[in-house]
Amino acid sequence: MTIDLYCVMGHPIEHSKSPWIHARFAELTGQTLRYGKRLIALDGFVPAVQAFVAEGGQGCNITVPFKFEAAALATHTSERALLAQASNVLTFKDGAILADNTDGAGLVGDIQRNAGVDLRGRRVLLIGAGGAAAGVLGPLLLAQPAHITVTNRTLAKASTLVARHATLALLQKTELLAQDLRGLEGDFDVIINATASSLNGGGVPVAASTLKPGALAYDMMYGPAAEGFLNWAREHGAVARDGLGMLVEQAAESFLIWRGVRPPSQQVLTELRAAIG
Ligand code: ATR
Repeated sequence: MTIDLYCVMGHPIEHSKSPWIHARFAELTGQTLRYGKRLIALDGFVPAVQAFVAEGGQGCNITVPFKFEAAALATHTSERALLAQASNVLTFKDGAILADNTDGAGLVGDIQRNAGVDLRGRRVLLIGAGGAAAGVLGPLLLAQPAHITVTNRTLAKASTLVARHATLALLQKTELLAQDLRGLEGDFDVIINATASSLNGGGVPVAASTLKPGALAYDMMYGPAAEGFLNWAREHGAVARDGLGMLVEQAAESFLIWRGVRPPSQQVLTELRAAIG
């Protein structure tokens, strides 16, 4: 019997939790599959995908820095991956490469289902306009907040991202603005950090006055990389949440695409949190 084969590709990949998460999903749903991790050379993404398909790979998750290349490689692209211009999940079927993006659905699912914060009618600040932010803006709009400001150190990138989502924002009746990070004002119910600021040794890029009392402050990273932002948020009366739930939820959405079964993601998130302490 051949076993269905999946993996996560990235660089670096050593500390990826995806193999653990998918193994647990498989156990809990009674599915038989193997899910590994592959370190891909920075200039070797396309041949790595081709090799995995030749081995019988059914699908893979894609992480930094290959999400843009993954979307470009696909023969078929979902609407949300098109909007993001990036893909974190590929499915291989009958010679086709299907690209989707479940990062945003993972974020929104974690905020709404796991953290219990309904985004509808809320004022949201998305900090950053790189790949991480691009992956989540469409699904955030689908949750119908009243307002989203996208702010970035390089304003032009925020403006481009906002322009690409302008039609969706109109349809969702969400006010969508791009603003420079410098001098940003306003008060928000939900603040999402999608910058790499902490990795670059930078501090929290916005003023505490942007946090409404009791606001949700969400960092899309987890572990030490998220600590600075989360501590800052707590010090200023916000509810702080790291991106571990987003990681599990985007994996659950990938698993659903591949296996047609929704795994018990909340249970796996609780287990993962306990496992990593
Ligand atoms: P990712 O895929 O993680 O989003 P990226 O595409 O390189 O990575 O984007 C990094 C994001 O973090 C960008 O929004 C970047 O701002 P610029 O577009 O101005 O480069 C932001 N960023 C990185 N370091 C930062 C810092 N010290 N302060 C504020 N924003 C920072």
